[in-house]
Amino acid sequence: MRLVVFGSTSSIGSAVAKRFGRAGGTTVFVGRREPEAVDLVGNEYVSLADLRTSSLDAAFSSLEDIGEIDVALFAMGRFIGNVFIDADDDDIAGAIQDNLTSTILIAKRAIAAMQGRPSAAIVILSSIAAETAGPGLVVYGALKAAVSTFAKAVRQELGSNGPRIICFEPGLVDTAFARDHHSGAASTDSAMSASTLADLIFKIAWSEPNLCVDLVRPTSLGFWD
Ligand SMILES: NC(=O)c1ccc[n+]([C@@H]2O[C@H](COP(=O)([O-])OP(=O)(O)OC[C@H]3O[C@@H](n4cnc5c(N)ncnc54)[C@H](OP(=O)(O)O)[C@@H]3O)[C@@H](O)[C@H]2O)c1
Repeated sequence: MRLVVFGSTSSIGSAVAKRFGRAGGTTVFVGRREPEAVDLVGNEYVSLADLRTSSLDAAFSSLEDIGEIDVALFAMGRFIGNVFIDADDDDIAGAIQDNLTSTILIAKRAIAAMQGRPSAAIVILSSIAAETAGPGLVVYGALKAAVSTFAKAVRQELGSNGPRIICFEPGLVDTAFARDHHSGAASTDSAMSASTLADLIFKIAWSEPNLCVDLVRPTSLGFWD
């Protein structure tokens, strides 16, 4: 079982790698940094690449050595949460690149590599912000809505040929990403743990090929208080 994680060498990506590792799977991280070694199982490899600027074709050809990819997790992203008219143009352009452009361009290559294999799955991490439009989430929410729509459309285009395209729209997950942008709120009941989300991703991505789960929107119960 081979998992490739694009982005997120630390939080959700590592939690999913740990879950796959416990089941005997191997993970390749493609990201800008070495993953935090903490508690990883030991069957991980790293391909360092800035997914905004690197040659994506080169990043993909280096993956060929590992053999067939069973699950690809799209976890790259960048939060941008300022009042919209105060946001810096470069921050907005960077957020578009890291949340949307990279997802679409990498998905094109991943689908080509996994085409015709309904047992394979592409898991795209969008966000509940795709649905809960609101102040402070103007750009981030719009980008995640675009990511969710992209996942929905490409799934229809692929039909039953595979890979399966599974879009996750999680609420707050207790990661550094969330803590940095929610004034520490991620450590309260409003957040779910990265390992809970990872268990769910594992269960759904590694399911029987004929099961179609297109959208998963998990939150903690406290998220809605
Ligand atoms: N945590 C939450 O509450 C939450 C909720 C819903 C959805 N999500 C989504 O889940 C995904 C993972 O989030 P996370 O919480 O696990 O935080 P994270 O570890 O910060 O994940 C984001 C990752 O994207 C990587 N990335 C961004 N731009 C990149 C680029 N150009 N090239 C390579 N890597 C790049 C970052 O790398 P660097 O560290 O090098 O910048 C970072 O590792 C994100 O898409 C996020 O929007 C998170």
